[in-house]
Amino acid sequence: MSRFIDDLKRTHRCGSLRAADVGKEVVLFGWVESRRDHGGCVFIDLRDREGITQIVFDPAYAEADTWASRGGAPAGLDKELLAKAHDLAEQIRGEWVVGIRGVVLSRGSNVNPKIATGEIEVLVLEATVFNKADTPAFELKDDIDTREEVRLQYRYLDLRRAPLQRILRMRHEINRATRNYLSDAGCLELETPFLVKYTPGGARNFLVPSRLSQGKFYALAESPQLYKQLFMVAGFDRYFQIVKCFRDEDLRVDRQPEFTQIDVELSFVNQDDVFTLMEGLVFAIYKAALGQDLHDVFPDGRFPRIPFSESMAKYGNDKPDLRFGLEHVDLTDLVIELGGGGVPFFAEIADRYTSGALSRAHKPQIVKALVIPAAANLSRPQLEELEKGLRDVKGFRGLARAKVAEDGSWTQSPLAKSVTPDARARINAAVGAKTGDVICFQFGLADLVHTVMAKLRVDVAKRMGLIPEYGHGGKWKFLWVTNPPLFEPGDGEGTWVAAHHAFTRPVDEHLPLLETDPARVECYRYDLVLNGFEIGGGSIRLHDPDVQQRVFNVLGIELESAREKFGFLLDALRSGAPPHGGIALGMDRVAMLLSGAPTLRDVIPFPKTNQGTDQMTGAPVTVDASQLADLAVRVVSAP
Ligand code: AMO
Repeated sequence: MSRFIDDLKRTHRCGSLRAADVGKEVVLFGWVESRRDHGGCVFIDLRDREGITQIVFDPAYAEADTWASRGGAPAGLDKELLAKAHDLAEQIRGEWVVGIRGVVLSRGSNVNPKIATGEIEVLVLEATVFNKADTPAFELKDDIDTREEVRLQYRYLDLRRAPLQRILRMRHEINRATRNYLSDAGCLELETPFLVKYTPGGARNFLVPSRLSQGKFYALAESPQLYKQLFMVAGFDRYFQIVKCFRDEDLRVDRQPEFTQIDVELSFVNQDDVFTLMEGLVFAIYKAALGQDLHDVFPDGRFPRIPFSESMAKYGNDKPDLRFGLEHVDLTDLVIELGGGGVPFFAEIADRYTSGALSRAHKPQIVKALVIPAAANLSRPQLEELEKGLRDVKGFRGLARAKVAEDGSWTQSPLAKSVTPDARARINAAVGAKTGDVICFQFGLADLVHTVMAKLRVDVAKRMGLIPEYGHGGKWKFLWVTNPPLFEPGDGEGTWVAAHHAFTRPVDEHLPLLETDPARVECYRYDLVLNGFEIGGGSIRLHDPDVQQRVFNVLGIELESAREKFGFLLDALRSGAPPHGGIALGMDRVAMLLSGAPTLRDVIPFPKTNQGTDQMTGAPVTVDASQLADLAVRVVSAP
């Protein structure tokens, strides 16, 4: 190859040289970011992961008098090598990989303030080309508008760009801070299998056919959940893992089929203990990744908490973005009290409650309002645009609106004619509407109303410039959402299914309700929310077989069928399981939010597209008939 690497070791990275280094002989390795030929003198911006250094190939420096003003020629100057280096520079092109030995010169008044090494340049005394490069498929600069498919196809080139280098480095900092913090907190980093038993419920699993047990399948672990609980049973007491999880779900900006969790399980803890540990972890991550002390935002080191029910009532979901207000107002009780207040749709709901046809406990219908303040100054077409944006919500039928006039009457609204003056005044007061405000109403099945109004809340905030389209806007609104219901109604009347999974411990005070009023049983489950994204979730587990049996009774899971699915866990829990609980943070989501990236694809080194494909390798692909035969698998229909 040449003297480089064997004899000439790298002395500096391309981002490290400063004015204080002038006069030093240095060896740099890197990629050619750009090359400018100034007739005889060639300038190259040499790049590595730490930055850029301007290197100069100038044969004039072979002459002793060019060094007069610099205190004489450097010891390492060899005229022949200098001339050879210059010849090489004539041929070098973008993205070639080169090594140089040179001397650091001051740029004098020609400082380039845009780069950290802008005070200096390196005069090349000797050079080698380690490798040439094809012309890249796109320009490797910070801001590019190249299509994402192309960038993903050449991901290794895209990853050379500084913004992506910064993000992956940030991931490293997050991982390092996590390992240090959790190890110091007494957690052991233990591994769990990826090839696991398929268990129904929860996220959809990827299946892996077994060659040695033909006709049988493993599942790829959607999380280490069951195994980390077994670690607690085994007495490891405190565990963590930075671990890949696999879920065959429909993909979105914040969902990838394989993603990374910071997974934690702890023995002898309550909910608050889990929160304390995780708050400390998040603080450590911010310090390491952003250099920010979150005490500036949360002086006592704690994140706020709200119950799940309050989150649903005020924001329509369990992951509210608290960077802005625009809270929902639940008008159901008022509408019932008013007997509908003259509005036919409201009257229908009120009548059904009064007659007992509807119950608050089982698939309730509700009426919710959200006020768009007059200050938003939205025109009618803009309001219609907002409504159009809600059509993606499955089941959405329309958004009733009313603009409040100075005398409190409603305009621009189909409800204006029918609503009674009393009902109008009571509703205006309940929602706190002022002149020029627009009240938006949604009524019907609670789930749909919440979903529509949650989306509306965010859409209005974006339109009003209260939050950016993506990114954090410098605001960090963390929130614990706690104690959701343990059960949700099943398909059959009076039947119940687990809202999350059957191994979450009911809230102590609610244990008596298991037999009498399952709808009101809340559980020790919690989500950590940041700026409208769920960045973590976990629970205190059900370690006590008696309570577990009572929960199974509500769910109607026959012990036999539970044994079939989770037999090993049930056995383990009866073999001396300590009280335990845990949580998993979505590490990719944390990286996305910290970096302000628009999607998870920007923070995962080699992500999948929204169709779950790998643009670079073409995976998934068809395989040979012989491979399928080994696995005893037949493809019944190929596209
Ligand atoms: P959960 O399913 O809530 O909990 O997952 C924990 C966190 O992982 C992140 N996450 C994802 N990130 C990217 N792509 C996905 N497809 C994806 N799915 C989930 C989210 C989420 O909050 N075993 C439990 C944890 C526990 O109870 O201890 C679990 O996996 O940020």
